[in-house]
Amino acid sequence: MRALVDGGITAFRLEAMPRISRAQDMDVLSSMATLAGYHAAVMAAFRLPRIFPLMMTAAGTMTPARALILGAGVAGLQAIATCRRLGAVVEAFDVRPAVRDQVESLGARFVETGVESETQQDTGGYARELEADAQARQHQVLAEHVKESDVVISTAQIPNRKAPVLVTADMVASMRTGSVIVDLAAPGGGNCELTRPDEEVDANGVLILGPTNLPAAIPGQASQLYSHNATRFLSQLLKDGQVQLDFDDVVISQTCITHDGKPMGEQIEALLQGASA
Ligand code: NAI
Repeated sequence: MRALVDGGITAFRLEAMPRISRAQDMDVLSSMATLAGYHAAVMAAFRLPRIFPLMMTAAGTMTPARALILGAGVAGLQAIATCRRLGAVVEAFDVRPAVRDQVESLGARFVETGVESETQQDTGGYARELEADAQARQHQVLAEHVKESDVVISTAQIPNRKAPVLVTADMVASMRTGSVIVDLAAPGGGNCELTRPDEEVDANGVLILGPTNLPAAIPGQASQLYSHNATRFLSQLLKDGQVQLDFDDVVISQTCITHDGKPMGEQIEALLQGASA
């Protein structure tokens, strides 16, 4: 960042793209989360020592696997859709009540914990951190659902904060042997207490995976989506074939990190100050 400032370079960070309708085709986080959510479900299905769908055969009936998806943002919704397509019975939970309809429209059941509230969503559409008592209530309800699940896929994140712990070591201990947890929040510390980034943890027969870069498992399509997002963004910087930066446009102002020899925005200034302190 310091080198960019000193060099007078204009730089942008695409992960800070505002979550508004107009910016959907530039939204790199959505592109990568879509692939990660899909792949997490496939990974869980592959590692679970039983099948996902209900199957009635001459030799007997096999009941469907039960999947619990924690955090129903972009990755979570994709994980729900993929688990449903594979035939699992799916439940999902999020602190933002706005996602209930989306969860139900994908054929999953929305788990009520009593902490969901409109105030848990900030103006950017992201979740806010829960207060300690709400977190305790959430744990109490989730414990029952985690215990009954064969698969837990967790995707809950809070911007610029450590990921919330939703699955405690006690909850893991209550799960059936062979169950699988795929923790997509591993880069932010994990939603499961026992997650270790990019490692496989065997907790008394429960497998915990904490992959930190699932889109890399689907490189061609990850690059295809990313390049489309980046191209659409670059075209926003041009007016009549010339670079013209309109800082009244949130797509520009929210993503620009350095310009004209200066850090842009309080967060970047604070970062630079912190680095020199
Ligand atoms: P994210 O990756 O930051 O978090 C994933 C999910 O975890 C979120 O749904 C969040 O509410 C949930 N979560 C956080 N703390 C939790 C907790 N303690 N318990 C349970 N769930 C918890 O979210 P993502 O996928 O990046 O989406 C963020 C927002 O942006 C959403 O409102 C989404 O609808 C919106 N969005 C808008 C777009 C646009 O209009 N361009 C594109 C993509 C997303």
